[in-house]
Amino acid sequence: MEKELEILVEELEKELQNCQKEADLLNVKSSFIGKKSKISQILGSLKEMSVEDKRKYGSIINNTKKKMEEMITNYAENLENQNEVVFDDSVIYDTQIGSLHPVTIVAKEVTECMKKMGFTVVSGPEMETEYYNFEALNIPKDHPARDMQDTYYLDNGMLLRTQTSGNQIHAMEKYGAPLKVCSPGRVFRNEDLDANHENTFFQVEGMVIDKDISIENLLYTMKQILTEVMKCEVNLRLRPGFFPFTEPSYEIDMECTICKGNGCPTCKNSGWIEIVPGGMVHPNVLKAGGINPEEYNGFAFGLGLTRLAMMKYKISDIRILNGGDIRYLKQFNIK
Ligand code: DAH
Repeated sequence: MEKELEILVEELEKELQNCQKEADLLNVKSSFIGKKSKISQILGSLKEMSVEDKRKYGSIINNTKKKMEEMITNYAENLENQNEVVFDDSVIYDTQIGSLHPVTIVAKEVTECMKKMGFTVVSGPEMETEYYNFEALNIPKDHPARDMQDTYYLDNGMLLRTQTSGNQIHAMEKYGAPLKVCSPGRVFRNEDLDANHENTFFQVEGMVIDKDISIENLLYTMKQILTEVMKCEVNLRLRPGFFPFTEPSYEIDMECTICKGNGCPTCKNSGWIEIVPGGMVHPNVLKAGGINPEEYNGFAFGLGLTRLAMMKYKISDIRILNGGDIRYLKQFNIK
C-alpha cells in the first residue's frame, strides 16, 4: 500500500511538471484527486478494511491525499506567477496596430476580475446538443422557455448554442463540486436585426457550487464585477425573475451610472438598468451535472457582455459591434 501511494505522488509530481496552463492543471487535479481518482478509490476501500487495517492505513492514505492537494495548490500558485506577462519596453510598437474590440475589452475586464475572486475560466462548444443547451438546464421539450430563445437548428441534429448556460453542465460533469467557474462566449439567436437585437452576441456565465451559498454571494460577486467594468461604485437591486434553471430566479438591476439614478433616456427615466439575470441553481440542474443537491447548492448568472459593452461605451446601436467597420471600432482607441 505504501509503495502504491508513493508511486501516485511521484506520478503527480511528473504530471505537474508538464502543466503549462490552468486548464492542464484542472485536468490533472480531476484525474489525481477527483471523485473517480485512484486516491479516492483507495479512500473508499477503507470502508471494507478490517479495523486493524483501517488503523494502519487510514492516516497514511489521508495524509497522502492532503499532500497531493497541497502539491496541486502550490503548483497553481507557481503557475500564476509564471504566467504574469512581462512587457519589454525596449520594443517600439507601430502605432497603427489597431485596437481591441469593445466586447473583448469588457470580456477581459470581467474575466480578470472573476479570476481574482478565484473563478476558473472554462469554455464550451458553440455547436451544442439540445441536451446541454436545454434539457439538462431543466428546459424539457415543449417548455415555453424554448420559444423565447429562437434557436438555429442545424442539419446534423445539433444547434448553435443560444446561451452560455450549457457550460454550467459541462463544468459540473468535468470538475464536480465545489466549483467556481466562469465561461465567456458567443451565442446565437434567430432574431431580426435592429438597434437592440443581434443574432450573434456575447455572454459570460458564472457559477459557484459549494455548501451554504446564498443570494448574498451572488450580489457581492456582481457588485465587484460591475464596479471593475464601470470604474465607479455601483448600486444593485434584486427583482424576482423566472428561469427554469434557477429557483428562486432574479433580475439584478444596476443603478444608472449616467444619471446616478435620477432618470435619463438611457435608463428610460427609471433610474435603473436591467443588467444581469441569475439565481440559485435549480436542484434538477445540479442533478444533471452529477452533483447531489442535498449536499451542495449554488448560484449562477448570465451576464450580457455585448450589452455591458454598449452601456460602458454608450453605443446606441448593437449592429455596429458586429458590423466590422474599423473606423467605428478605432474610436475606442484602446490597445
Ligand atoms: N441563459 C439566460 C439567457 O441567456 C441567462 C441566465 C439567467 C443565465 C439565469 C443564468 C441564470 O445562469 O441563472 O437568457
